[in-house]
Formats: sequence, structure tokens, C-alpha cells
Amino acid sequence: MGQVLEFVNIYKAFPGVQALQDVSFRADGGKVTALMGENGAGKSTLLKILSGDLRPDRGHVSFNGEVKHFMSPHQSLNSGISVIYQERQLINSMNVMENIFLEDMPGNKLGIINRSELKRRTQEIIDAFGLPIRPTDIVGNLSVAHQQMVEIMKAYRRDSAVIAFDEPTAPLTDKEITILFKLIRQLREQGRIILYVSHRIAEIFQITDEIVVLKDGRLVRTFNTPETTERELVRAMVGRDIGDTYANLKRNDKIGEALLEVKNLVTDYVHDVSFTLRRGEILGFAGLIGAGRTEVARAIFGVDPVHSGEIKLEGETVRFKSPRDAIARGIMLCPEDRKEQGLILQRSIRDNVTMPVLSQLRKGIFLDRKSETALAKEAVRKYSIRTPSVEMQVMQLSGGNQQKTILGRWTSEKIETKILILDEPTKGIDVGTKAEVYQMVCDFAKQGIGVIFISSELTEVLNVSDNIIVMHNGHITGRVSRAEATEENVLEMAMRI
Ligand SMILES: Nc1ncnc2c1ncn2[C@@H]1O[C@H](COP(=O)(O)OP(=O)(O)OP(=O)(O)O)[C@@H](O)[C@H]1O
Ligand SMILES: [Mg+2]
Repeated sequence: MGQVLEFVNIYKAFPGVQALQDVSFRADGGKVTALMGENGAGKSTLLKILSGDLRPDRGHVSFNGEVKHFMSPHQSLNSGISVIYQERQLINSMNVMENIFLEDMPGNKLGIINRSELKRRTQEIIDAFGLPIRPTDIVGNLSVAHQQMVEIMKAYRRDSAVIAFDEPTAPLTDKEITILFKLIRQLREQGRIILYVSHRIAEIFQITDEIVVLKDGRLVRTFNTPETTERELVRAMVGRDIGDTYANLKRNDKIGEALLEVKNLVTDYVHDVSFTLRRGEILGFAGLIGAGRTEVARAIFGVDPVHSGEIKLEGETVRFKSPRDAIARGIMLCPEDRKEQGLILQRSIRDNVTMPVLSQLRKGIFLDRKSETALAKEAVRKYSIRTPSVEMQVMQLSGGNQQKTILGRWTSEKIETKILILDEPTKGIDVGTKAEVYQMVCDFAKQGIGVIFISSELTEVLNVSDNIIVMHNGHITGRVSRAEATEENVLEMAMRI
């Protein structure tokens, strides 16, 4: 008989939130079971119960008929369960092999590590994945995509019967996604139990066999993947039909004069980049991960030094030395990495949202708490951030709701914005909220703001933007209007050498 993992009547509450309520389902060996649901639906909480990081208030997990009450991650691992988290857990200062074998280094009884053995075994795993990295590379120096792959190799190495992935592809390039999917198919052939969490619906149809949908902590439906449709799945998740997101957008039809002109920009990472952003225009930046789009944004925003070229804002040549200078002139950047470049996790939603406008919220030497709270509540409403209050620590929000908080910060009505740069704004955001984010981007354009919209999701960047710039290897390799753009021609430009 095959392996079976069961969740039985699981309940879990956090202060102010019932994260899971009476969730029961089974996942079989030899199948990939998807967990889907809106941001805050309870997916990661369920996986943390499986991994022994959290204990359920009621209910239990049962594995091959045996009831399990994991008191620690160690116990779960020892039962053959590996969970790959939404947030990376690697130690950046250590190298690849030390990270992969962290919990059981090959060595002798005295605890002396056999480094050549360690290296050999790590190389074997790297070869199985076909990745261009070395066992001795320091993890902190690897690209985010490769760091994520190290995380996956670490779980693979343990040879677990159950492997759970929480949004594994969010930081991966197409190349790594192909490697990952090949691996997942292998693991499935071997009869393992695979749980897979993702907001990318196309992936769900590509790689999973069954789908479990959670909504507000309850299981609403399960599907056999081949027997359902995208529309039906979205309706189960969101609770209503969202229709054709792109066709329903109310767009800006008055694109104005030039707002930002970039000519022959050169930095350490980008070469000879020239483009114009107009008032009310949504200018998309498409390309593969690592194409240099974030680096263009950073140069404009005064983070990375500009070696040569010209940046003109409303006709006047500017060269910002720091983000502070750029912000003072009405340029806002909503960064791609919400953790490293943005949120203060220990602070509340309110503190995080109001950070850039604190000086406006002062009354004499005091902060105007009421206005602060109002502004934060507005962000929570606009982006449907799932939280009991604006006092909640950002750390306690689900991944997607953290992403919404950073969007809320950089798009608050108190900020006078001329140019809004959004770098991967919908990463980890659920399908219903994505549609709302697109409409908000169009609304900014209607107000005359020029929007730079960087996204690795081809469909979204092609359908939301008025015009699209394609980058590859630090160069611009193509420009098309929305009407001219197809996934094929843009991909071809994105891969041009
Ligand atoms: N440590 C915690 N303290 C308080 N509340 C928490 C904590 N962890 C999770 N929550 C809450 O539990 C709910 C479920 O969160 P969870 O992270 O499981 O959502 P998710 O389905 O993984 O969402 P996403 O798609 O955004 O990752 C959310 O409302 C979240 O704020
Ligand atoms: Mg999550």
C-alpha cells in the first residue's frame, strides 16, 4: 500500500485570528497535492504544523496510520517529513555543503567532519540538479534563485517520504523552475507524498494531481486537477467570479508629456539604457530574472552609482545621490525584496505604512496617532490585508499580506508621487488581490503618475502596461506597445544574446 498523510480536524488560533478551523484531508504517495487559497488562508500555518514548528490547538497529523503529535521540528524530520519554507532558512555565512548537511555532517565519532566526503556527496546532489554552483560557494554570495535551490537540495538530501514546498518558485528563474519540476516528477514516481503551495495557477495545473482549497482557515473544496478549470478554482478560492481581469481594467487613456528621460545610462550592472516615461503611462519592464531591471530602478532611485548617461526629470537633469533625494522629488520605489529592503518585521503595520510620511504626521513635537492609524487602516482596506488590527506586528502576517503592507507604504495618499516604480509588486499575492493591484496601478496612471512596472510574470506585464521594454543581460533588447506584444515576441527579445 502507498504512503498516506492525513490532517485530521486541525484547529489553530493566533491572537485575534482563527488561522485554521477543522481542516481535514489526506494526501497520497505518488501524487502532488496543491494547497491553495488567498493570502492568510492558513496554508503556511498548516505546513508549520506538519513540520513541528507549531502545535495545533486541536486535531492531529497522521502518517501511514500512525497518529503524530510533533513537539519539535526534529521529531517531524525524523519521521521522514521535510518542509521547505516560504522564507529561506539558510545560514548565509556558511557554504553550500555546510548548509545542505547542517544537521548531520559526515564525520567520525569524535565529531571531526570529513570534508572531502562532505564535498563529494554535495557535488553528487548538485550534479543531480544540474546547477552551476560549487559545494564550497558561500551561500550569501549566490543569487536568490540558487539560494532557493540550495534550500530544496537540503530537503532532497534527507530523502524524506513527505516533502512540502511553500511557494518554491517565487524566487526562481524559468530555468530553475524547469529543474524543480523535473525533480518533483521524479519524487512523485518514487511514490513520495508531495505538498505544493503556490499562487501561480498555471503551475498548479502543470505539476499537481489534486488541489485542496482553503478559505479563511477552512477547507472549502478539493479538486482533481485534470477535472477542474482555472475559473472554477478561482471561484472556490475567492468566493466569486473575478471575470477577465485584464479586459475589465479601467485604464488611463490620456498619456501626457515626458516625465522621466533616461539616456545612455551605464552602471556596474546596466549598459546604455535609454527610455522615456510619460505622465500617466504604465511602462512595463519585462525580462528574465537577473536581466537588469531592478538595477535600472536602483540607479534612477539613487541607490546604485551611475557611471555615465543622463537622467532628466521634467526636463531637468538630475543625479540622485540617495533614495532620500529621489523621494524628495516625488520618485517612489516599492522594492522587490520586502524583507531586505523594506519592512521592519518587529514593528506594527501602522509603523511600517507611515514610515515615509512621518514628518507630515507630526503635531508639534508629537505624532498624530489618529492620522497614522487612519492611514494604516486605509492601506489595510485598499489591499485587503488580513489582520485583526493595524497594531499587528508585520512578522505575524502571512507572506502575501507582508507584501501588501509594503505596497501600502509606498502608495499611501499622503505621498506626493510623480513616478512610482513597482518592482515585482504582486509576488506572493493571491489572485483576487492581484486584480485589485492592477486596477490601482491604472488609477495611479489616471492621476498622471508615471508608473514603471517591473514583473517577471509575462502575462501580467504584457497586459497591464501601455508600453513594454524588454531587457536581457543589462541591455534593452526590445520595445513594444501592449497591442504589439505577444508572449512569444517578448520572450524572444528577453532571451536575445
Ligand atoms: N505567529 C503568528 N502570530 C499571529 N498570527 C499569525 C502568526 N502566524 C500566522 N498568523 C496569522 O494566521 C493567518 C494564516 O496565515 P498563513 O501564514 O498560514 O497564511 P497563508 O495561507 O500562508 O498566506 P500567504 O499566501 O500570504 O502566504 C493569517 O491571518 C496570519 O496573520
Ligand atoms: Mg504562506
